[in-house]
Amino acid sequence: MQPVFDYLKQHQDRFVAELCDYLRLPSVSAQPQHKKDLTACGEWLVTHCRQIGLDARLCQTAGHPIVVAKTPRRKNSRRPHFMVYGHYDVQPPEPLELWETPPFEPRIVGREIFARGSTDNKGQNFAHLKAVEAYLKTGTPLPCDLTFVIEGEEEVGSANLSKFLKSHRAELRCDAVVVSDTGMPSLRHPALTYSLRGIIAFEITLHGPARDLHSGVFGGAVENPAMALAQLLAKIRDDRGRVKIPGFYDGVSPLSKFERAQAAKYPLKDAQLKKLLGAPELFGERGFTPTEQRSARPTFEINGLTSGYQGEGSKTIVPAWARAKITCRLVPNQSPARVRKVVCDYLKKICPPTVRLEIEAGHGAEAYLVSPTGAPAQAALRALKQAFGAEPILMREGGSIPIVNEFKTILAADSLLLGLGLPDDNAHSPNEKFNLDCFAKGQAMSAHLWQELAR
Ligand code: BES
Ligand code: MN
Repeated sequence: MQPVFDYLKQHQDRFVAELCDYLRLPSVSAQPQHKKDLTACGEWLVTHCRQIGLDARLCQTAGHPIVVAKTPRRKNSRRPHFMVYGHYDVQPPEPLELWETPPFEPRIVGREIFARGSTDNKGQNFAHLKAVEAYLKTGTPLPCDLTFVIEGEEEVGSANLSKFLKSHRAELRCDAVVVSDTGMPSLRHPALTYSLRGIIAFEITLHGPARDLHSGVFGGAVENPAMALAQLLAKIRDDRGRVKIPGFYDGVSPLSKFERAQAAKYPLKDAQLKKLLGAPELFGERGFTPTEQRSARPTFEINGLTSGYQGEGSKTIVPAWARAKITCRLVPNQSPARVRKVVCDYLKKICPPTVRLEIEAGHGAEAYLVSPTGAPAQAALRALKQAFGAEPILMREGGSIPIVNEFKTILAADSLLLGLGLPDDNAHSPNEKFNLDCFAKGQAMSAHLWQELAR
């Protein structure tokens, strides 16, 4: 194993340069104008995977292509098989004016690399590719077979990957899936995540007059859709942070004593969190700690709110419509379809007759929960400890990786969530970054992991 770690050490600078090349590709899956950039990014990955010794191919889908890359197989291999899942698509970089340097021109400051997609998910996933490169280039035998599946639609709901899993079930059947697309509290606190929240996405539009109206001439005699939307949204939550939609919390299992004790061990304290977020105060559902609120409780979030004139100066109109982009985060035991129904029913019930309500459904996924006591989880904890030199913690995360549910239902495989992101990485925000120590230690963790998993 020593040659693997020596190789990783010797080649760090080149790895960082390669990661910069990867980060220069603007693979924004949500924006149609970037369609070609996604294909280019997938092709770049395939070429890169081949260079490091993997058998790689680009698989077309109805959306963005999927990269599949495998370690060279032996004939009739009965060895354990693990999948490494990641995504090469990134969130939209907007608002651009808040970036200190452009999002697709990677910039290194100290031990941080700034670029859209650096932590989520290119850098984290790339660490695994570099670990495998070290095995292959030093001729160190891997104790298992590996298949990388790197998709281009994670940030838009992974619509085409489940079909792909079904049509490639035999090829992709594996003992577990390894995913580095979450976080850890700090470099001194490596973490195994055993739960993710689920999600439902939708858009609400309130339609008022047939066109924007002069607000002096007509305002006062016709509903203002922006005001109606504000009033509608104000009825969603009470001032103690609890969602008022009847049935919203149905089925939500209470946190056990053990879970609350685990959450209490999370090392980021409330004051630090407040400072990190730059918020005047923390706020959340009464009766739960911030760690619990953002990982183990369901929420209703407004992600975007649009209506009327957004340009400079004033324009006196009653807007024709108002729209809100919404996501709810779900926890284990909440069905996305059922929550969607109770939300829609409530909105229809409270919407006044002065506007027409339109609800457009988006993607949805159940929450994920896996036992942290099984053999693969124990192997992962050993690998984390060896690479980071500290005792790993168990945690729940509030973010969602919808496809992990499908790994379970379609491939019968649990996912090991071994996040390499830090809380101040600015995922989905301006000035996203990835820490180069997380990158290097992530590579070491991956190198150890295959030994531990195959033990
Ligand atoms: N890497 C994140 C998910 C994540 C981040 C999980 C931090 C836990 C901690 C992933 O790329 C992501 O952002 N997923 C989306 C999914 C959605 C678009 C369906 C999310 O959680 O918003
Ligand atoms: Mn993301």
